[in-house]
Amino acid sequence: MTAPAFTARHRRTIFMVLVALFGVQSVITYTTATTVGDERATYNEASVRGADLYREFNCTACHQFYGLGGYMGPDLTNVTSAPGKGPDFAKGIILHGTQRMPARGLTPQQADDIVAFLQAVDATGTYPIRHIDLTPWGTYRSMHDDAR
Ligand code: HEC
Repeated sequence: MTAPAFTARHRRTIFMVLVALFGVQSVITYTTATTVGDERATYNEASVRGADLYREFNCTACHQFYGLGGYMGPDLTNVTSAPGKGPDFAKGIILHGTQRMPARGLTPQQADDIVAFLQAVDATGTYPIRHIDLTPWGTYRSMHDDAR
């Protein structure tokens, strides 16, 4: 007759090991931040004003960052670095609108501030994420490693 594979003592040990591993994983997950590796992601005065304007004019009713927002217009996460677009392109549309986007009567100064805000957002990462750099414990090492 063979002995039972796991005695109560074994089970208790395995349980405690799993609890300990859960603790270790939790600590690592909550203490390892995703880096924003780009200085431009730091907001300057213009981009702070731009963020306020973006809220004031409710751009988010139609636009998304990282896929979240309204869906009448395109995602703006990387509009200031997208091929064929960029800061001047964005400013032009913000000032003059298009057939599908209403011009809201912003001043050139206000448009510059919003573009500064869009550039700060752009520097935080790329959307959609094309290259996921994960740590072994499942957090992002960085979301800004994409070759653009
Ligand atoms: C009523 C919905 C609506 C609002 C509000 C709106 N937009 Fe738009 N926006 C659009 C649409 C639709 C387009 C696409 C225009 C086109 O292709 O003709 C667009 C295009 C853009 C583009 C060019 C994006 C690209 O990738 O080509 C930028 C930049 C932009 N909007 C910025 C803004 C900002 C900043 C605000 C707030 C001041 C704003 N929009 C408010 C609907 C809106």
